[in-house]
Amino acid sequence: MDRIRIVGGTPLNGTIPISGAKNATLPLMIASLLTDDTLVLDNVPNLADVGLLKRILGNHGVDCMVKGKRASHNGHSGETVELSARAIIDTTAPYEMVSKMRASFWVVGPLIARMGQARVSLPGGCAIGTRPVDLFIDALESLGADIDIDGGYVVARAPNGLKGARISFPKVTVGATHVAMMAATLAQGESVIENAAREPEVADLAACLTKMGARISGAGTATIRIEGVPSLSGARHTVMPDRIETGTYAFAAAMTGGEVTLEGATPDIVKRPMEVLTEIGAEVTPTNEGIRIKRNGAGLKPIDISTEPFPGFPTDLQAQLMALVCRADGESHIRETIFENRFMHVQELARLGADIQLDGQVAKVTGVERLTGAEVMATDLRASVSLVIAGLAAEGETVINRVYHLDRGFERIEQKLGGCGATIERLSA
Ligand code: UD1
Repeated sequence: MDRIRIVGGTPLNGTIPISGAKNATLPLMIASLLTDDTLVLDNVPNLADVGLLKRILGNHGVDCMVKGKRASHNGHSGETVELSARAIIDTTAPYEMVSKMRASFWVVGPLIARMGQARVSLPGGCAIGTRPVDLFIDALESLGADIDIDGGYVVARAPNGLKGARISFPKVTVGATHVAMMAATLAQGESVIENAAREPEVADLAACLTKMGARISGAGTATIRIEGVPSLSGARHTVMPDRIETGTYAFAAAMTGGEVTLEGATPDIVKRPMEVLTEIGAEVTPTNEGIRIKRNGAGLKPIDISTEPFPGFPTDLQAQLMALVCRADGESHIRETIFENRFMHVQELARLGADIQLDGQVAKVTGVERLTGAEVMATDLRASVSLVIAGLAAEGETVINRVYHLDRGFERIEQKLGGCGATIERLSA
C-alpha cells in the first residue's frame, strides 16, 4: 500500500491548478444513465472514485471512453469522458461495488426513472457516521415508486413510470437532492423539491440535465421545480472546479505561510471558507487566474465555527480547518453538525503534537507552538488530507499510511504540493 512522506517546515510558493470537482463529476456521470444518447464530460478529474464509478456504470451497460486531456501551461489536465448508456443491460448495482463508494447508490434515481426498476445495494463509503438512505426512499416513494428492502438491497419498481410530486426534505441532503432531481426529470408532470441542498454541485448537475433537455428551475436554491419530459438527449458539459480541493490547498498555504495561486478556482463557491481563512489571518485575493492565498509572518488566530450545509462552512473542510488551527494562538471550537463520527483525524493529529479535546460533536483545539512529524494513518478522504496539511508544518518527517483514501479525492497531490516547494513524495509499496 502506498504511503506519503512529508518533511515539513517549508513555506508553499507557486501555483496549484484546481481540478474538476469530484462531487460534481460523480452525479454527472450517473446522469448518463438517463439517456440512450452520449453524454460528454470535460474536465473530469483522474481519481480513484471516478475510476470505480466507471466500472459500476460499465456493469449497467454504460460505455465509458476517455477521449483525451486538456492540458494547461503547468501540465494540469482534466480528462474528457464520453458516457453512452445506449442499452442498460443490468438494473442491479451489487454490494461489492456500491459498498466501496456511497455515491454509487445514486444510480437508483436514473435507473428507476428510465427503466422502471432498480435493485441497488445499501451503500458503504467513508466511515463517517451511519449515513442512512431513508430520505432517498421517501423521495422515490413520493414520485410513485414501490420500494422494498430485500437482502441488503433497495428494490424499487415503477412499471408505469414515475409521477411528479412535491418532495419536502426534513433535512438538507446533497445525495437525495441529486437523486430526486434526476428521477423527476423523466416523471410525468411537475415535481417540486423543497428544502433542497443548495450546494453548487446540485446547480452543476441541473445545468447539465438542462442541456440534456430537462426542464429545471431553482437549482442552487432551496426550492427546485422540475417539469418532467418523456426522454433526455446527449449533451456536452464541463465539470465545475473543486471547491473542497480549493479550500484544502488554501488552508495548506495558510498553514505553511508563503504565497500560492489556486489556478482555476472560483471565488463564488468558496466564500465562507475564504472568510474563515481571512479571520484566521491569511490574505485572500481573487485574481484573473483564480484565488491568491498569502500569509507572511503573521500568526494564526483561533476560531469558533460550526459546519453547515452550503453556503455555510462545509463539513468536507472541517478536518483541514482543524489541522490549521492546531497552530493558532489560542483556543478554537469546531462543531460538526452534518455527520457524527467525523473526528477520526483527531487522534492522528494528536500524534503530531496537536492538543484537541472532543466533547460530543465539538472539538476544542488549543493551538500549540510546534507540531512534530510522526507516522500516522489516513482514516477517510478528508481526514487524510488534514494530516498532509499538518505534516507540511510539522518539524521533521511525517509518513501517512493508507494513502488510498487520499487518492479517492485528490488528484496528484504530491505533484501539486511539490510544485510549490513542499518536500513530499509517494512511497510505493
Ligand atoms: C455529500 C458529499 C460529501 C459531503 C456531504 C455533505 C458527494 C459525493 N458527497 O455526501 O462529500 O460531506 O454531501 O455536504 O457529493 N441523511 C439521512 N438520510 C438520508 C440521506 C442523508 O439522514 O437518506 C443525512 C446524512 O446522514 C447526513 C446528512 O443527511 O447527516 C447530510 O448527508 P448528505 O448531504 O446526503 O451527504 P452525501 O450526499 O452522502
